[in-house]
Formats: sequence, C-alpha cells, structure tokens
Amino acid sequence: IQRLFEEAAHFLQPANSFVVIKGWVRTARDQKQFAFVQVNDGSNVSGIQVVVDSSVPSFDKVASLATGCSIAVSGYVRKSPGAKQPIEVQATSVELLGPVASNYPLQKKRHSFEFLRTIAHLRPRTNSFAAVARVRSALAAATHAFFQSRGFIYLHSPIITASDCEGAGEMFRVTTLPPGATEEQADFFGQRASLTVSGQLSAEAYACAMGDVYTFGPTFRAENSNTKRHLAEFWMIEPEMAFASRDDAMKNAEEYVKHGVSFLLETRMEDLQFFDQFIEKGLVRKLEQVRDLAFARVSYTEAIEILSKATEKFEFTPEWGSDLQTEHERYLAERHFQRPVFVFNYPACIKAFYMRVNDTEPTTDGRRTVAAFDLLVPGIGELIGGSQREERYDVLCSRMQELGLSEEQYWWYLDLRRYGTVPHAGYGLGFERYVQFCTGMENIRDVIPFPRYPGHCEF
Ligand code: 4AD
Ligand code: MG
Repeated sequence: IQRLFEEAAHFLQPANSFVVIKGWVRTARDQKQFAFVQVNDGSNVSGIQVVVDSSVPSFDKVASLATGCSIAVSGYVRKSPGAKQPIEVQATSVELLGPVASNYPLQKKRHSFEFLRTIAHLRPRTNSFAAVARVRSALAAATHAFFQSRGFIYLHSPIITASDCEGAGEMFRVTTLPPGATEEQADFFGQRASLTVSGQLSAEAYACAMGDVYTFGPTFRAENSNTKRHLAEFWMIEPEMAFASRDDAMKNAEEYVKHGVSFLLETRMEDLQFFDQFIEKGLVRKLEQVRDLAFARVSYTEAIEILSKATEKFEFTPEWGSDLQTEHERYLAERHFQRPVFVFNYPACIKAFYMRVNDTEPTTDGRRTVAAFDLLVPGIGELIGGSQREERYDVLCSRMQELGLSEEQYWWYLDLRRYGTVPHAGYGLGFERYVQFCTGMENIRDVIPFPRYPGHCEF
C-alpha cells in the first residue's frame, strides 16, 4: 500500500492501473450504492480506502466485513475525490481470506498501551505499534549505513560468555541442565557461563586489530528493575575505535545519533507526524533541533555544580562521587541545557574497571576521575555510556586489583595491552532508548516487539 502512495506521489503509476492489495480490514461501511473498506497492510499509517460498488460480485457482504479479517482486493488505483486521502482503490473484486472471530480484542477504538502489552502478538496491528516497528527498522538500517559508510566492521559478539563486562553482577546464568542434575551442577558444559551484558570486550579485541568496529545485538541485564527505561533483554550498538580518544568517541556518538534522526526525518515523516500528533507534541520540531544543533558538553564536576545550584527539589541530593540519578540527568538535558548533553570525566569510584584513569586532567581537589562519558537526552536521561579504555597494562592491573577482579579470568583482555596496545575508545547506545527518543513512546516496553521484564516472557 505504501508503494502505491509513493508511486502516485511521483506519478510513476499510469492513472487507473490495475492492482491487487492484501491486508486487514480496519473498518467497513455502507452507503447505499457504495461500500467503503479501509484496509491496512502494515506498510503505512493510513492504509488505503477501497471503494466497492454494487456491480462487484461480493458487494452484499462487503459492508459487514469485520474489523481484523484479512482480504484480497483487486481493482484500479485512482485519485480520490475525497479530501482525506490522495488515492483509493476502485474494487473489481473483494475476497475474504481469513474471517475473524467475534471476540477479536482489537475492535476499532483506542486501547491503553498497558492492555496492548497483554496481547503483544496482536498489537502490531495497531497504528502506534506498526509505526514503532517501522521506525525501529529504519533506525537499524540507518545504524548500519552510518557505520558501514565510515568503514567500521560489523562484529558479531557472542551472546554466551564467561566475562562480566560491567562487573555489576547483573548476569543471567546459562545452564545445561541434564536430567537429574541439581541447580548447583548446572553450567555451560562444565564452565560457568552467562548471557552477555555487553559486547564491548570482544569489540575491543577486534578494534585492536582492525581499527573501527561495531556490534549491534541483544544484551541482557538481570536487574530486577521495573522502570520505563529498563528491560532484561535489550539491543545495544557498541562502536569501538582504535587510535581514538574519549573526544573522538563523543564526536562519533553525536554524528551517529544525528544521522539516525535525519534519516527518520527524510524517510519516515508520516510516522513521525503520527507520533507528534498522538504521543509527543512537538516531536518533529525536537528531532529537527537534534539534527541541527550541536550537543552540549560538560564535565561531571561542573554538572554537579549546576545541579547543586539548581532551585529544583531533587529526591537525591547531587553529590560529587555518587552516580547521577535519572532526575539529575533529565534536569540537565531538559531544563538546563535543553538539548542532548555529554557529561564526561566521572569519578573513578563509580565506574567500570576498563575506563581510562585521567592523570593529565586533575579535578578541582585531586579526586580521581576516568575518561568516561554519558550522553543524556531530554525525556529519557542516559542514552549512551562510553569511555576511552585503559590501554596501560600496569594501570589496568592495579584498577582490577582495587575492584577485586581476577587477572586470570581476564587474561585475554590483558593480552590486548601486552601485545601492541593502543589508545582506544568506544560507547554503547541502548537501541530501545533511541527508539523511545525518536518516537516519544513513554515506556521502553512499547518499543521492542516482545519485551522481556520481570514476569514477562510469554510471547
Ligand atoms: O552504560 P552501559 O551499562 O554501558 C555498557 O554496557 C558499556 N559496555 C558500553 C560500551 O562502552 N561499549 O549501557 C550502555 C547503554 C545505556 O546508556 C543505556 O542506553 C542502555 O545501554 N541500557 C539499557 N537499555 C535498556 N534496558 C537496560 N536494562 C539497559 N541497561 C543499559
Ligand atoms: Mg551507563
């Protein structure tokens, strides 16, 4: 259906060309000589209007076609006399392919997103979820286009792994549970293994051989959090660049986020306008600004100063040495800077072992920081986390010791520092948060087809 609209817009179809369309009925109604059926096949928001006159063999049955049944329509595309749509189909035949039971849960009315989560297998038939799926697909394509056009190698990092990249202990154990085995015996063929929380460490190995690489795959976090921004299974894009600094990584991140946004503005305007109208007022304007304005940059220490001076009442008092809370992140992006903002150089004590210790940039009173950065965006908070990596073997070892990580377990990661080490940097962007940001969808559970969160893995 979308192709018909595009061809009509570009005058590629001769007037009155014959077409066959297949899709699902949204509504059918009767006006004496004519019946009108609104058909949607998932390719666009509007679907297309089918006009059926009494000469069509199945005319009698058309007006009573129920919402949700599938049909095939043959007919001629023509300019629509109505103002609502540019084109419509004048049917020569309408064939019912799949009737719909009378208890179809998606009757023509607005349903809450909460209810739709209970029928995740049917929700792509609604306008909102189909639009999310199209935007998500377009953003994935834009992601590959962006990195491929810059010569990055797409790396498939493993899902099953023994290393905890973030060191936060939020991993799902992987088990082979032979009949009769106890939970304690369960393991990955005699080895302890988990689902990956991040592909970063593998990406570092390839970056330290090939320069620029990126991963784009599912990652898993066993944090039992019931928030609008956390899932147990989410997709992450993790670029890793050799011979690169923290600033190089931030520059690349800004360009990547802008590239995806511009691509949507160019290719998915109908969907964006739909979200602008029904989900987040001003969304298109916001995205145009993201595309056009430079992102802000502020050090963690300055960010804490800004937050301390803010008149806003925070639940958690902002304090140097503790992590920024979502309320702080959103204040910085939404109120103070009013645009995406990079916060860089976080205290070492709250960050992962692999982040490069800053020794050339002393902080105000000598407190140790690492060359980390987060990108905070309005409406979401943290969209990206990244850093320059610690490439110095000795410094890395002593950081690992401090944090109680075993050098034996990370032997291969340390090898990268033993053999031809280089400054390198990278980041991880949470794909669902990116889709949320670009659609205005409030809950992360509504931007992934089948969300995984505590108590939910049915579909
Ligand atoms: O900040 P995080 O934990 O960073 C890493 O995993 C690094 N290894 C990335 C890297 O440098 N290569 O996660 C990165 C991003 C976050 O900024 C957030 O957008 C997203 O992943 N994220 C989640 N998204 C949905 N549900 C969760 N539970 C998420 N946890 C992190
Ligand atoms: Mg983070």
